[in-house]
Amino acid sequence: METSSISRRILLFLIAVQLSFECIHSIVTYDGKAIVINGRRRILISGSIHYARSTPEMWEDIIMKAKDGGLDVIETYVFWNVHEPAPGVYNFEGRYNLVRFLKTVQKAGLYAHLRIGPYVCAEWNFGGFPVWLKYVPGISFRTDNEPFKWAMKGFTERIVKLMKSENLFESQGGPIILSQIENEYGSLDKRFGGAGHKYITWASEMAVGLRTGVPWTMCKQDDAPDPVINTCNGFYCDAFIPNKPYKPKLWTEAWTGWFTEFGGAIYKRPVQDIAFAVARFIQKGGSFVNYYMYHGGTNFGRTAGGPFVTTSYDYDAPIDEYGLIRQPKYGHLAELHKAIKQCEPALVSSDPIIISLGPRQQAHIFYSRLGHCAAFLSNYDTNNSVRVLFNQKHHNLPQWSISILPDCQNMVFNTAKIGVQSTRLSMLRTNSVMFSWETFSEDLTTSDVDSSFTAFSLLDQVNVTRDSSDYLWYTTSIDIAPSESFLYNGEHPRLLVQSSGHALHVFINGKLSGSVFGTREDRRISYKENISLLSGRNKIALLSVAMGLSNIGGHYESWETGVLGPVVIYGLNRGKLDLTHTKWSYRIGLKGEAMGVALTNRMSSVEWVQGSLIAENKQPLTWHKAYFNEPDGNEPLALDMSSMGKGQVWINGQSIGRYWTAYATGDCQKCHYTGTYRPIKCQVGCGRLTQRWYHVPRSWLKPTDNLLVLFEELGGDPTGISLAKRSMTSVCADVFEYHPNINNWRNESFTKTQTFHNPKIHLQCNPGLLISSIKFASFGTPVGTCGTFQQGSCHAPNSFDVISKRCIGEERCAVTISNTNFGQDPCPNTLKRLSVEAVCTPTSNIRG
Ligand SMILES: *[C@@H]1O[C@H](CO)[C@@H](O)[C@H](O)[C@H]1NC(C)=O
Ligand SMILES: *[C@@H]1O[C@H](CO)[C@@H](O)[C@H](O)[C@H]1NC(C)=O
Ligand SMILES: *[C@@H]1O[C@H](CO)[C@@H](O)[C@H](O)[C@H]1NC(C)=O
Ligand SMILES: *[C@@H]1O[C@H](CO)[C@@H](O)[C@H](O)[C@H]1NC(C)=O
Repeated sequence: METSSISRRILLFLIAVQLSFECIHSIVTYDGKAIVINGRRRILISGSIHYARSTPEMWEDIIMKAKDGGLDVIETYVFWNVHEPAPGVYNFEGRYNLVRFLKTVQKAGLYAHLRIGPYVCAEWNFGGFPVWLKYVPGISFRTDNEPFKWAMKGFTERIVKLMKSENLFESQGGPIILSQIENEYGSLDKRFGGAGHKYITWASEMAVGLRTGVPWTMCKQDDAPDPVINTCNGFYCDAFIPNKPYKPKLWTEAWTGWFTEFGGAIYKRPVQDIAFAVARFIQKGGSFVNYYMYHGGTNFGRTAGGPFVTTSYDYDAPIDEYGLIRQPKYGHLAELHKAIKQCEPALVSSDPIIISLGPRQQAHIFYSRLGHCAAFLSNYDTNNSVRVLFNQKHHNLPQWSISILPDCQNMVFNTAKIGVQSTRLSMLRTNSVMFSWETFSEDLTTSDVDSSFTAFSLLDQVNVTRDSSDYLWYTTSIDIAPSESFLYNGEHPRLLVQSSGHALHVFINGKLSGSVFGTREDRRISYKENISLLSGRNKIALLSVAMGLSNIGGHYESWETGVLGPVVIYGLNRGKLDLTHTKWSYRIGLKGEAMGVALTNRMSSVEWVQGSLIAENKQPLTWHKAYFNEPDGNEPLALDMSSMGKGQVWINGQSIGRYWTAYATGDCQKCHYTGTYRPIKCQVGCGRLTQRWYHVPRSWLKPTDNLLVLFEELGGDPTGISLAKRSMTSVCADVFEYHPNINNWRNESFTKTQTFHNPKIHLQCNPGLLISSIKFASFGTPVGTCGTFQQGSCHAPNSFDVISKRCIGEERCAVTISNTNFGQDPCPNTLKRLSVEAVCTPTSNIRG
């Protein structure tokens, strides 16, 4: 017995030695508290940045900004359909260069979470699945189905192999510390019953069997099998509990905003609320937070899912669609991350001790064995700020907020108190003009002739096009006898077309008769209008337009698209004529697409017509082209498409994406940060175009003669298209004074040090810009936010002069908020604030 125990000890020792050799590269594991990297539990702040939604030229800048914002980890999905456009044909170039993206993350000294999926949802075309996968015989997506599992395993293995070959897993010295398999399957799992559970068990075993050396996650998957960690996605995740006590509490999608759909408003999430949600998650023992999105970017080309997801995927993220910092969201979260990091030693060491500070107020206190203490003081009351006593000190907690005390003494951060400046980003006209306009019309008269095939039925659009184009023509003809009475009595026949989406243009004898559009929520549309028919042969041509394939829903792969019928004409002598099973001719895509008119090297194959015709040529189904020179400067660029109708646009052969001048419906009632967030609470842009601006990456341009090509479905005025630059036009600061006699949230730091410093405002323009004027300044009780400040009842008359003197002509300035600075107290015994909006202008404009 004794000897076997000794030999067991030796064996354990040998295993330990072997483990420590493997430790040459770090080991990533986990326990009930946190992800453990190299033996150390970590509180990790992560952000989603999808490589395919920006350009490789933008990646480093965005990732460095993320690092400066306090992120440890960059998360990305892997988009199967861009990597394997046809079975066995792979593409990892350009925007799809996943390895380059991850190496950029590594170079920045950050970790990565690789969410392979391969189902990714992500408002991405078809949820990330290649469309050809749907046509594999016998396949059924995301369930216990052999053809599907075989394909999923093949792609997952390929990605893991690629990562291993580039030494990208942390176990190999690379940045990847976590990987995800499947995605938000939990709700389907229950619906699919036993097959769902079998599938998820298989997926977990398949993933773990790939031996990446780092843990796997499954989000929204309560029954994720060991050792896979189930994680939470949502606006709040503090109530989430992992399915085993030895798994850490991870939040894989903390939604910073929401995506937009054409015809919808823009959703904003107040930073005070997301900071509150994150602090609330951490105080409940959470140890990994990933912002979805940290930078949303752009759905270039036809990558938007949907249908009807916009080309912009800005998501109200801390870094905007164009790669610019969005303040105060970015800066306020950066302050939050600093505060959380100061608490890390205590946070990873214990479960919180919770004490009540009031009916809706709590303290969560963490201790480490080495004596660290960190406290989170929370006020869940949505209406009232509350003064609480904690650790023998009073603290004022604004409504719906959490204060962080990394030493249990001093409050360093409150989620509702924004100290950083806000900035206003605007679209400014550039000096670039479009020249040499030419047009080319899709010929409607001959489409019968070069149809690809005919059928005596109405076919599913995706089955016909395999998504090689958004467009599918369904054409047929009917003979109208001279005896039809509508030809004489002034009545009209009526056409009914039922379609399963997403948009439909009806042409009768080559003329646009009308259009109908679905929505993301209801793809089905029907056209029901009077039409003009002539005696003799009439041509009915239906152009069905896909607007991004669905990316979410149970077996969404089986949903059909396009004109599925019935198609019926009413009001003939014999009553109705059902055309559903008549002979239909099909043509996939547009002639301009087939001829590659948007491509730079194929221009000569088309007969373009000179631009003088444009004014009268507001025709549907028209291609337009023009040239432009690159605007000066280095600001991000965007096309203003508000003069157009609906279509797609390319620059130098690169697809900018789908455009549509759809107006936002919705209720843009006042948004307040307090209370449980839902996107509908905070909408902007009601009554305006959902998307007016379309991002043009600078790297796609050359100095002169850039080719702009667009296809317009409805008709519009292309001469109204212009190129704008996204610029930070003003910076704002808005900070409360310190007032010793008034309930003041800074009192605790005063009592600690006895040398209180009055707060300051800080204003800073981007490099190359200087403060050229002060748009607003008021020390007193001003109201409003950046861009809409107004004087309140109390206002120090010299506010404007004081700020102007300190700030104009400077790149940055700081002004202390104190009565002496403004001559005298404009309203004693009132809590005052200083609100300033300053205009930033390029240095050259000021000096010149
Ligand atoms: C907060 O105020 C709103 C409206 O004034 C009210 O409906 C709500 O009940 C209040 N909530 C609490 C927790 O007092
Ligand atoms: C696609 O179309 C072909 C030909 O009409 C048909 O046989 C097949 O069943 C269709 N496939 C799907 C998945 O709808
Ligand atoms: C459509 O035609 C019917 C029958 O001719 C007529 O009564 C109706 O007013 C027409 N509707 C429109 C909108 O023109
Ligand atoms: C500030 O702190 C001091 C010392 O703890 C205390 O006496 C005073 O009442 C506090 N003031 C406010 C407004 O909280």
